[in-house]
Amino acid sequence: MLDVRGGDPKFPAKCSSDSEVTLSQQMMPSDANPLGNVHGGYIMKLVDEAGGLAAMRHARRPVVTVAMDSMSFLSPVRVGHLLTLRARVNWVGKSSIEVGVHVEAENPVTGELTHTNSAFAVFVALDDAGHPIPVPPLILETDEERRRWSEGEERQQIRLQRWRKKA
Ligand SMILES: CC(C)(COP(=O)(O)OP(=O)(O)OC[C@H]1O[C@@H](n2cnc3c(N)ncnc32)[C@H](O)[C@@H]1OP(=O)(O)O)[C@@H](O)C(=O)NCCC(=O)NCCS
Repeated sequence: MLDVRGGDPKFPAKCSSDSEVTLSQQMMPSDANPLGNVHGGYIMKLVDEAGGLAAMRHARRPVVTVAMDSMSFLSPVRVGHLLTLRARVNWVGKSSIEVGVHVEAENPVTGELTHTNSAFAVFVALDDAGHPIPVPPLILETDEERRRWSEGEERQQIRLQRWRKKA
């Protein structure tokens, strides 16, 4: 039996592989500081783009970013490196979608690969009037996907608790 969770059952459920996005881009001097290290903010922008595309593919609706978790950069990304971002839907609520983004840098001359960071962001699908709209459920096919779902669900509960405390 299919393990289908979240979303609105009136839509056909989708697998995370249906919406997965891989974005690759070579880092240019305009993306970096004078020492040749790529700005963290630029990598965050690419994370937002890749994550937003995966969420849009899942919802087949425009989305906005409602939350982005704190990000740590594990090693520098240099000008000339090929940055590859892999974005995957981990968890879906009613209108919200958590996407995990794995970021890797490749030195195209040596082939050396470095995991620079991972990030989680939440997107909300919108209707034509800009209001939240339900999204398709997610099909979980593997134990790894079930682990991602549970962790995503837990993170979302923590985000909402923090958000309510601030509001
Ligand atoms: C996202 C937005 C449309 C949500 O509107 P809203 O009136 O708060 O709607 P709701 O309270 O129904 O929340 C919608 C969903 O977002 C989730 N959400 C709201 N605030 C959140 C937060 N801080 N963190 C994580 N999820 C959040 C809710 O849990 C809900 O999920 P669900 O439908 O799966 O249960 C609105 O807050 C907005 O437009 N924000 C600005 C987005 C933006 O401009 N982003 C940057 C540029 S893309």
